[in-house]
Parts: sequence; C-alpha cells; structure tokens
Amino acid sequence: MALTQDARYLICMQRYLPTLLLSVLALNTGWFVVYSGDLGVRGLVSQSPGEVSRVFQKDGTLANAVIALHMIAGAVLTFGAPLQALPIVRRRWPGLHRRFGYVLFVLAVTTGLGGLVYITLNGTIGGWWMSLWFAIYGTAMIWTAVNTVYYAMAKDLRRHFAWAVRLVVLAVASWIYRMHYAIWYAATGGLASNKEFTGLFDQIQVVAFFVPYLLVAEIAMRWRDERRPPTAA
Ligand code: HEM
Repeated sequence: MALTQDARYLICMQRYLPTLLLSVLALNTGWFVVYSGDLGVRGLVSQSPGEVSRVFQKDGTLANAVIALHMIAGAVLTFGAPLQALPIVRRRWPGLHRRFGYVLFVLAVTTGLGGLVYITLNGTIGGWWMSLWFAIYGTAMIWTAVNTVYYAMAKDLRRHFAWAVRLVVLAVASWIYRMHYAIWYAATGGLASNKEFTGLFDQIQVVAFFVPYLLVAEIAMRWRDERRPPTAA
C-alpha cells in the first residue's frame, strides 16, 4: 500500500526529530562547555585562583581543586550526554555507546560529588536555600547516573531509557540555568535578581532550572508508554 505524503512526512519526523533536537541541544551548550572547561583548568593551574573567579577561594586548596574538577567533568558531561543519546549512536555503534556510557557515568558522579563536597566545605553564594537545591540537584544526578548504568547492565532497556532521559535533562540543566538568566536579564534587566543570588528570581531559579524539565520528561515518557501497543505476556 502506497503511503500518503503526510504519512511519509510523519515517519520521517519520528525517525529524525530526536537526532535533530539532540544535535541542536549539544551545539547550543557549546559556549557554556568552553566557559566551564576553561574556568576549571585555569582554577586548577593558577597560582592565585581567587583572581580567576569568585567561586575559588584564596586559601581553599581542597574546595578549589574539587570545584575545578567539577567544572571540567561537568563541561564534558553537558556536551557528551545529548550526543550519547543520539539514536544513530545507539543503533549503529552499540560498543561505543556502552564504553562512552561508563565514561559519562564517571563524569556525572565526579560533577555531582564535586558540587556536593564544595557545598559542604564552602556553601554557595546564595545561602542555605541555594545550597539545599544544589545539593538536591547533585544527589539526583548521582542517583540518576547509578540507575542508568544499573538498568543497562541488567538489560532492562525500558528502565535504562527512562533513567537515561532523566540523566540527559540533569546533564544540560546547568546550561539551562545560565540560559534562564541570560533571557531574564535581556528581557527585564535583572528584575528580582542580585549579585548575592538572593532575589526572588534567584530563589525560584534554583528549583526552576531542573524540576520542571524533569516533570515534562516524566509526562512525555508516560504518554509514550500509554500509546505503545501492549506486548504479549
Ligand atoms: C552538569 C554540569 C555542570 C557544569 C558544566 C557545571 C559548571 C559549573 C561552573 C562553571 C561553576 C562556576 C560558576 C560560574 O561561573 O557560573 C559551577 C559552580 C557550582 N556548581 Fe556546577 N556545574 C554542573 C553541575 C552541577 C551539579 C550537579 C551541582 C550539584 C551539586 C553543581 C554545584 C555547583 C556549586 C555548588 C557551584 C558553586 C556555586 C556558587 O557558590 O556560586 N553543579 N558549576
């Protein structure tokens, strides 16, 4: 039976849309990836890291090393996670997908742990509210990475996919955080936001950069599961 033009268009979209969206996402994170990697390397090698960024302390050797490694690992993770999820990589190069999956796991744990240790040693600029939500974010990242690898090893591909989606959302959430700020400052000049990160916008941001995106991903996955034909028992 010949397919109509509309049906062919729909099949084409279904097949290539995820690849297109994930590629565009990875490319758009480029500026933040470079910024984060560069800051991490400079913080690590500089004799006076306090001058590189306010995040680094004058005399905080451990906290500085931990947050510098966090930035470097986080940079590779932000760019690598969407690429790892590309359907073509999963289908054509399963060996590469598997090996890079373990690399991403290490990067996610390093990024999350680095952030958590830094919060424990130093707190965050925005005080307890920001520290709390960043700690939740870091814990969620580690938990998600563990589950993604666990279900891959258990060959439970449905759960592996669901955890991988959550991990990709969390991996790009730090970039989303900066994008929210860029858009907000361009639109309002920085209304309800300040240098201490204690304005109303800043306080909403520490939740809004990852929680709503995780919820949207959950709803999308449920919707997809409900439309899937039941498998034979
Ligand atoms: C996903 C990839 C991530 C990247 C690329 C990344 C990158 C960065 C960068 C570049 C900074 C320096 C601040 C700036 O100049 O903007 C930073 C700070 C920080 N990050 Fe991350 N990060 C990531 C994930 C996380 C996670 C999962 C946590 C949670 C534990 C976290 C916690 C922190 C904390 C607590 C700071 C210091 C905040 C402050 O007091 O200003 N980050 N990160």
